[in-house]
Amino acid sequence: MIVETVVTTVTPAGKPHIAPMGVREADGAFLLMPFLPSSTYDNVISTGCAVVNFTTDARVFAGCVTGRREWPTVPAHRVPCVRLADTLAHAELRLASVHDDAQRPTLVMECVAHYTDAPFTGLNRAQAAVIEGAVLVSRLAMLPREKIEAEVAYLSIAIARTAGPREQQAWQWLMDAVNDFFARPAVAARVLNEEAL
Ligand SMILES: Cc1cc2nc3c(=O)[nH]c(=O)nc-3n(C[C@H](O)[C@H](O)[C@H](O)COP(=O)(O)O)c2cc1C
Repeated sequence: MIVETVVTTVTPAGKPHIAPMGVREADGAFLLMPFLPSSTYDNVISTGCAVVNFTTDARVFAGCVTGRREWPTVPAHRVPCVRLADTLAHAELRLASVHDDAQRPTLVMECVAHYTDAPFTGLNRAQAAVIEGAVLVSRLAMLPREKIEAEVAYLSIAIARTAGPREQQAWQWLMDAVNDFFARPAVAARVLNEEAL
């Protein structure tokens, strides 16, 4: 199973970096698979650690893919890294090994400690829709317009019926990015790609 998380890392100078990432857990280790080039990859290779944050704050996912990468962090306990200040749980990780690949290496991360930070308050369809929408926005330049419009129409149903203020805000950021892309596809694609670097 792949779990959609927010991975926090730091540069060698200690500057936090935040990126949504799907992670797998296997035999007590977490597998991170960043597409290169990747700041997350560079930071893990440099510092040897990362934190996987389990959050239902869909704004972080939508924010990161629309250029809003600044979210409050606090120091991790057991590794020289940071975690999201507002997360339900987090796992503090140390690099165990790297499976090299020119496009998408696998970082095998040993779990040093796993913390519960807040209670899980239940499943929400709008949060899942925002995650799907964030993936869609990160692929705008690769998808046909009809597919984007069809997915937005479908995901909008869950937003309209079940979103709270956070999910509405997150969805608005995503829709602004989709509308910008359709208005000026060449410029929007370049901005999105630069943000992914
Ligand atoms: C739900 C979700 C899951 C993602 N999973 C991955 C992933 O597994 N690997 C990856 O490289 N990027 C993934 N992305 C895209 C990254 O968040 C984005 O490209 C980010 O900038 C990673 O690059 P960085 O390490 O340079 O920040 C995902 C995005 C979303 C919204």
